[in-house]
Amino acid sequence: MDAARIDELILEGKNSQEIRKKLKERTQKSFEIKNKGKKVAQEVISTVKLPHPIYIDSASGGTMTDVDGNTYIDTTMGFGPIILGHNHEVIKDALSAQMEKGWLFGLPADQQFELGELLTEASPCAEEVIFANTGTEATMYAMRAARAFNGKSKIGVFDSAYHGGHDYALLFATYEEGTNAKPNGMYASAGISNVIKDETLMLLPYRNEAAYDMIRKNKDDLAAIILEGSQNSNPRLNNKDFLQGLRDVCTECDVLLILDEVVTGFRVDYGGIQGYYGIKADLATYGKILGGGFPIGAVAGREDIMAVFSGKGGERRIFHGGTFNGNPFSMVAGIAALSYLREHKDTIYPSLMEKGNRLANEINDFCEKNDYPAQILNAGSKFHMKFQREPINSGFDIKNYYGGMHKQAENEFYLHLLGQDVIVPGVRLSFICDAHSDGDVSKIIDSMKYSFNAVREDGLF
Ligand SMILES: Cc1ncc(COP(=O)(O)O)c(C=O)c1O
Repeated sequence: MDAARIDELILEGKNSQEIRKKLKERTQKSFEIKNKGKKVAQEVISTVKLPHPIYIDSASGGTMTDVDGNTYIDTTMGFGPIILGHNHEVIKDALSAQMEKGWLFGLPADQQFELGELLTEASPCAEEVIFANTGTEATMYAMRAARAFNGKSKIGVFDSAYHGGHDYALLFATYEEGTNAKPNGMYASAGISNVIKDETLMLLPYRNEAAYDMIRKNKDDLAAIILEGSQNSNPRLNNKDFLQGLRDVCTECDVLLILDEVVTGFRVDYGGIQGYYGIKADLATYGKILGGGFPIGAVAGREDIMAVFSGKGGERRIFHGGTFNGNPFSMVAGIAALSYLREHKDTIYPSLMEKGNRLANEINDFCEKNDYPAQILNAGSKFHMKFQREPINSGFDIKNYYGGMHKQAENEFYLHLLGQDVIVPGVRLSFICDAHSDGDVSKIIDSMKYSFNAVREDGLF
């Protein structure tokens, strides 16, 4: 069906028109804000892009409430950090206590060591830790540390990866010209010099053993490879053999293995993806959950490599610093979140896994039975719905991000879901948190089923 015909069906569609009317009527204040803000700011982050504008006023547990007073089940979870649920008591208490003492010292405080100890205890590779403010900074510093440590210039990055917004993190594959064994590189963002692509990065294929020989052949240039043990774009938990192969080849070739645990850290297991698979990186990057909902980044790893941060590495010392690094709010929120997770890890992690798997399995069965062009990929409580029926092994098989040939139908699906009071952010990466009850998960499942049916009734797929 061509795009023009789908537009016609949306205009004629009873469900499409009804949902627009319903959302418009109940979100008047959101529209006022959208129009008022237009002159000064673009949308704050393009990853949000809901199919209908709503602006959030408050959040609690597994829900968010918009400025018009509509309450939704939230699957954004702050893009991952909010694993316990919004406004969790233990984090609120820690913040209130810190509020009385002050919020920015610059100079060190004991809490940095306390959070550092919690991280080194949880992360299999962590012998030492440095803090930053975002996952973006963490991956940038880890790459710099690797180059300084072994004097080589390139970092291997994988297709369909995400490591944040800095220049060295935005090499994406163009599959049109490449193959799944050898994706060609291109930048996701204009404004980045080609020197970075040509001189400092190398693109490798994810979940493809061809990567091993590419590393062997380029070992004299490769300081490190960096990857997510379970990609945001392709969440799954059956990457152990691929990761073990990478671990072995990196050791053989004297190339450092950096695992980006910004999302997987404290998410798939208290020990992150390294704990889940029993595989140890040389360096790992953290963010998100580590800060308990406050800005944070961290690099953790082998003592001899981490020495480049402190100067114990002699001439190989690298620059690392920042006004808000190790700030008290991020530290105490992180300590509260990790302490709680550590204490309850035997119940929280199996429960998150069970809820995420139930959601994915029920929706996948439903889509298969009814021949809906969609599937959910999940790594426990982290999930991503793709609008295609064809199986997905790696990013190479993802026909097109955000809907591909079913783009307009996907948009309608998310309109209906919003109308059913379930929020999925525009980037589509979603999370279940500990505060989501089994009933909430059932509500998400039912709302998704309802939305698929509503889209089909209008003839969009
Ligand atoms: C795997 C991964 N690495 C790094 C980052 C960057 O983290 P931040 O947004 O805190 O800069 C993200 C953010 O989503 C991420 O998902």
